[in-house]
Amino acid sequence: MLTKQDNETMTRVCSGTPAGNLLRRYWHAICPAAEISSEKPKKRLKVLGEELVLFRDGRGRWALLGDHCPHRAASLYYGTLEPDGIRCAYHGWKFDADGKCLEQPLEPKETCFKDEVKQTSYRVEELAGILFAYMGPEPAPLLPRWDLLVREDGAKKIVVLPVHKCNWLQTMENSVDPAHTVYLHAHQFKIRGMKGGEYYGRKIEKLEFEEVRGPLWAGVLKKRTFADGNQLDEETGHPLVFPNMLYAPQGPDLVIHFRTPIDDENTYVIWMTFRPSKDGARVAQPARPPVEYLRPLKTPDGEYEMTSFASQDMMAWETQGPIFDRTKENLGYTDRGISLYRRMLKEQIRVVADGGEPLGLIRDPEKNDIVRFEVSRGQSRDEFTQTWFASYSDQTAEKEQHQAE
Ligand code: FES
Ligand SMILES: [Fe+2]
Repeated sequence: MLTKQDNETMTRVCSGTPAGNLLRRYWHAICPAAEISSEKPKKRLKVLGEELVLFRDGRGRWALLGDHCPHRAASLYYGTLEPDGIRCAYHGWKFDADGKCLEQPLEPKETCFKDEVKQTSYRVEELAGILFAYMGPEPAPLLPRWDLLVREDGAKKIVVLPVHKCNWLQTMENSVDPAHTVYLHAHQFKIRGMKGGEYYGRKIEKLEFEEVRGPLWAGVLKKRTFADGNQLDEETGHPLVFPNMLYAPQGPDLVIHFRTPIDDENTYVIWMTFRPSKDGARVAQPARPPVEYLRPLKTPDGEYEMTSFASQDMMAWETQGPIFDRTKENLGYTDRGISLYRRMLKEQIRVVADGGEPLGLIRDPEKNDIVRFEVSRGQSRDEFTQTWFASYSDQTAEKEQHQAE
């Protein structure tokens, strides 16, 4: 249970809020780069409660500016793109990708007024077909080259989920709640006779959580030990990457989930999925990975479909309320990962408030060639992937064999 004050501190994301200040120290996935094209060269979007306009200028530079013109607040989205920037539709003020005011056509030529005006602007970088924004103080850390974004021994796909109508922290607390998988997901699959239902009732013998404070990433590792008859089956992995990512196997894929707060009550969810080639061979990469938009995950009358992991999770996260009131919760033994993550979040909010640098920022380019996830003590991410992928393939092959019989 949290106090009302702590709940507010950890959930609110707008500029100047404690969690907002912390989140602004990290890069956030904002949309597939393919959403900006010559047919649709601008996009209006909201990130961390700020209304923004995204475009690419005539020199190919990405620009992310405050959407409200600093003159009299009309939307810059409706402005015209020019080679060196965007010109507001209302009185023609023009801004470049750095937010510098280049022209004020109706103001007297002899004034230097334009030099006094600056529009909010943020850094944007493209990596693996996803645009990432940094909205914090300079100097910006490096955009982490997360392994699934840069590996070439498999096929990548970007998946965009419908906007989740809930606060970002609900999506993250789910990532340190490994107990829900054998209930929420397995049970819903079982009652529908779907694949995955066989895990319902699987007994979790032990749940362990490990805090990671590595030089390249921080977060929480989960370890479930299942008791299958007399057999103990240890399953390690699914790192929650602080503050708002999850790295998880999903069917035959490895997936990074990015959860970007749109505002206090809406969260943008985008995945990078990666299907490793079976023999580890390099796969020819397209210029950008393909993009898939998941269906609404709800029935036409607005009910959650409950037939996929994504729709089941969406039900759980959204029905907790737009901002879950944690003064009313009752955490149990299986919720220790949530408490651990909250401790880390609260501590890092304090670090930033005291003028420090939070965990998991990368500043050394030599260390950013590829950022791999160590998934447990003594086991590298590659070993984890290989073991996991091999066991997945074996299980699948076994099941197909049974079905064939
Ligand atoms: S409101 Fe944009 S130029 Fe006047
Ligand atoms: Fe889930």
